[in-house]
Amino acid sequence: MTQTNPLDAIGATIEEPVLLPWSGRRFTITRPAGIDDLLDRAELDPEQNLPYFAEIWPSGTALADLLIEQSEYVANRRTLEVGCGLGITAVAAVASGARLTITDYFPESLALAGKNLRAAGGASVEARQLNWRDEASITALLDGGPFPIVLAADVLYESRDIAPLLTFFDRVLAPGGTLILAEPGRPVAARFLEQAATSGWDTGEIARHSGPWPDPKDANVTVGIHTLRKFRVPGSEFRVQS
Ligand SMILES: C[S@@+](CC[C@H](N)C(=O)[O-])C[C@H]1O[C@@H](n2cnc3c(N)ncnc32)[C@H](O)[C@@H]1O
Repeated sequence: MTQTNPLDAIGATIEEPVLLPWSGRRFTITRPAGIDDLLDRAELDPEQNLPYFAEIWPSGTALADLLIEQSEYVANRRTLEVGCGLGITAVAAVASGARLTITDYFPESLALAGKNLRAAGGASVEARQLNWRDEASITALLDGGPFPIVLAADVLYESRDIAPLLTFFDRVLAPGGTLILAEPGRPVAARFLEQAATSGWDTGEIARHSGPWPDPKDANVTVGIHTLRKFRVPGSEFRVQS
């Protein structure tokens, strides 16, 4: 049986220079030139997921910038990125020394993120297709154990994902681990943070980033970057893993 290469299905691409505003670091990110074909194919998707992976988003850019500025969050740590999109956060995480696993629902996202990581010349990463709403997919991801650091940029935009993502993050984080969540002020993300706080998560905003962003239409977007840690019962195991 012949395997189709997800990059073939994407069609024409554009190489876009991206400047990270705080650190001044520059990356080149390859993205689809248009999304019409991807949208046509998304109509057949059983989960009705749209190809949001194809854009460069402020949250992924902000989280990339934070990781370049504060590499201690990921340096030499087993790190999971959820919903990696084009891989801009992944490129920064690897540049800062993360031992990274990238995940996304779309194989095209993983293929493009892999291409962008190779172009940046960083260490190789593991890439896993994942549906965070699907139990079998989560179990397969955990075959190497849970992760001390989980990165997620702009993954909370649909109400249906609040409960599944709370469960997912709880399962994939190692005891004492930290989720770093970047979000551009969407109401769904605010509700997620409220529900996390009332269900045993210690949440705190560590930074706010106002760009400027690669796409001028995002000029008014401010990204909040939060850390989330799950409270453990006193006396239960609590140790930071690397
Ligand atoms: C708005 S994009 C953000 C992409 C990237 N993190 C960024 O900030 O540039 C959301 C990402 O989550 C992925 N995603 C959506 N639903 C998913 C699911 N159920 N399981 C895994 N990934 C999913 C999308 O394919 C997309 O790459």
